[in-house]
Amino acid sequence: MAIKKWGALVAAGMLAATLALFGCSSGGSNEQDSSSASSDTGYALIEDGKLTVAASLDFPPFENLNGDQPEGFEVDLMKALAEEMDLECNYLPSTKFDTIVPLIQTGGKADVGVSGITITDDRLEDVDFTDPVCDVNQSLTVLTGSGYTSAADLAGKKVGAQTGTTGYEWAAENIKDVEVVGFDEMTAVFAALQSGRIDAVAVDLPVANYYVKNAYTDCEVIQEIPTGEQYAIAVSKDNPELTKALNKALQAVRDNGKYDEIANQWIR
Ligand code: ARG
Repeated sequence: MAIKKWGALVAAGMLAATLALFGCSSGGSNEQDSSSASSDTGYALIEDGKLTVAASLDFPPFENLNGDQPEGFEVDLMKALAEEMDLECNYLPSTKFDTIVPLIQTGGKADVGVSGITITDDRLEDVDFTDPVCDVNQSLTVLTGSGYTSAADLAGKKVGAQTGTTGYEWAAENIKDVEVVGFDEMTAVFAALQSGRIDAVAVDLPVANYYVKNAYTDCEVIQEIPTGEQYAIAVSKDNPELTKALNKALQAVRDNGKYDEIANQWIR
């Protein structure tokens, strides 16, 4: 299903990105016909002057809590995009990952969903995505010394993943006779691995690397799985001008070096 279509999806995303670029360069004269929007920028915001962000803050190095402060690659990126747009960036309290796309689709709570969210066909039915902000692959992590060396060794075993994620879906579809165990929080997945409740963790590779290096040092990443995923910012289909403005801001921070600065700090 969705995973097999990713190749085509990436191509479609690049086409969309190209179109969006053209849309932006010719879109400057749009201001007069934006009367139906809530501000002269053409897009609607939950709170005036603020970009309100819904996130599952358990996904370092992309977004995580440091005390009660959100931090990470996407957090700094959103701050930079908000600054480009003359807005204040406002993170809501951490939200369960699988509720974020529905929350953006329903509207009323947040302007954007930002959580290492992979662009997938299923999600594209419910929300719009900006141009990609990052490319990642999946991975498998086990307890060091467990003897498992690849997905094939995990046939018939228990693999843990965060509920509603592409890692969960990948494990269910690609490991023979697997029992996939779903958890709300990413930390709970690694804790279950450490305690022996599951045999492996399926999660985006940079996140696995981060958890293994910083907290779960008795675990090891055994396999990178080239799923070719792309993260993007989820926006309501009712707010296409916000998607356009975010793409424009994203291009600006790519051009002025800010994107690289943030990427170098967190993910390179
Ligand atoms: N990239 C994966 C997906 O889109 C996992 C994202 C999980 N994000 C999080 N903040 N916990 O399904």
